[in-house]
Amino acid sequence: MQVSKVKIVEVGPRDGLQNEKEFVPTEVKVELINRLTDAGFPNIEAASFVSPKWVPQMADGAEVMEQITRKQGVIYSVLTPNLKGFEGAVAAKADEVVIFGAASEAFSQKNINCSIAESIARFEPVAEAALAQGIRLRASISTAFGCPYQGEVPIDAVLDVVKRMKALGVQEFDIADTIGVGTAGQVYEVMSRVTEIVDPKQVAGHFHDTYGQALANILSAMRAGIQIFHSSVAGLGGCPYAKGATGNVATEDVLYMLHGMGIETGINLDKVIEAGDFISRHLNRANASRVGRAILTK
Ligand code: HMG
Ligand code: MG
Repeated sequence: MQVSKVKIVEVGPRDGLQNEKEFVPTEVKVELINRLTDAGFPNIEAASFVSPKWVPQMADGAEVMEQITRKQGVIYSVLTPNLKGFEGAVAAKADEVVIFGAASEAFSQKNINCSIAESIARFEPVAEAALAQGIRLRASISTAFGCPYQGEVPIDAVLDVVKRMKALGVQEFDIADTIGVGTAGQVYEVMSRVTEIVDPKQVAGHFHDTYGQALANILSAMRAGIQIFHSSVAGLGGCPYAKGATGNVATEDVLYMLHGMGIETGINLDKVIEAGDFISRHLNRANASRVGRAILTK
């Protein structure tokens, strides 16, 4: 099945920036999010309400959420690993909270300091509270295509976590390639199996581009009926608990591909390129989007 409409979730302000060593000033984060809002994204992952000791870059989540200019209809999401994070998210008027687990035990321990089973128990009250308060509930499942510590991750481990998240009432499931090792055939297989237990409209592909496979993996996931993808402006990012992992696939590259295929996203590519240029200049680093670089140097 080939999809004709795709929703892009921009994760640059969160996944893209969380690994930056130098603290990115709040006003720069805010300007980035405002530019992305203006570019037309329907959903922007804006911050994390996690331990500032674990991820210092995300310590100003409350300020970021307070200072951004919100556009009606846009979903501003935040990561919440536990009830403390959820309370912060509610106070910050997040439209969506994201619980985040893993398909690999080793990664779960490194990232959130507990086993998969313990993480589900922690997510339970978060999910209950989110649903009771009418806040959208999304779940991210890391290392679904491979783990930096454990290596191969069996599909059954992915499906098991999806089922447990589904039982919590999760509304959207991010199947994440944390370290970008997945290949197109594997992606088709994993996504096909996941969509046997969850409606494909509720499944998202979250691909890091470490091995340069992300665009191919998106196409492959689309063939399996997936219509939601995460990407990061200027290809920003990496994961603090996945050494060597590079950023998510660059938003500009995904938009160029999709628009070239005649697939609607509602997002203005030129404005995304400008936002990518803005943040790359601020971070003083080369723009990791091939499309962004090509167009900016034309
Ligand atoms: P812990 O140390 O086991 O937790 O960490 P704890 O409950 O013992 O708390 C330790 C301290 O953190 C305490 O403070 C708590 O108050 C505080 P202290 O008493 O020492 O001063 N704390 C918090 N502070 C603010 N907000 C909170 C919070 N919770 C506790 N929500 C914990 C467990 C989960 C908190 C920790 O491991 C953590 O914050 N991990 C976050 C890791 C993270 O953000 N990773 C990156 C995001 S995931 C990702 O990038 C993958 C994804 O992109 C998909 C993919 O690509 O795979 C989504
Ligand atoms: Mg990620």
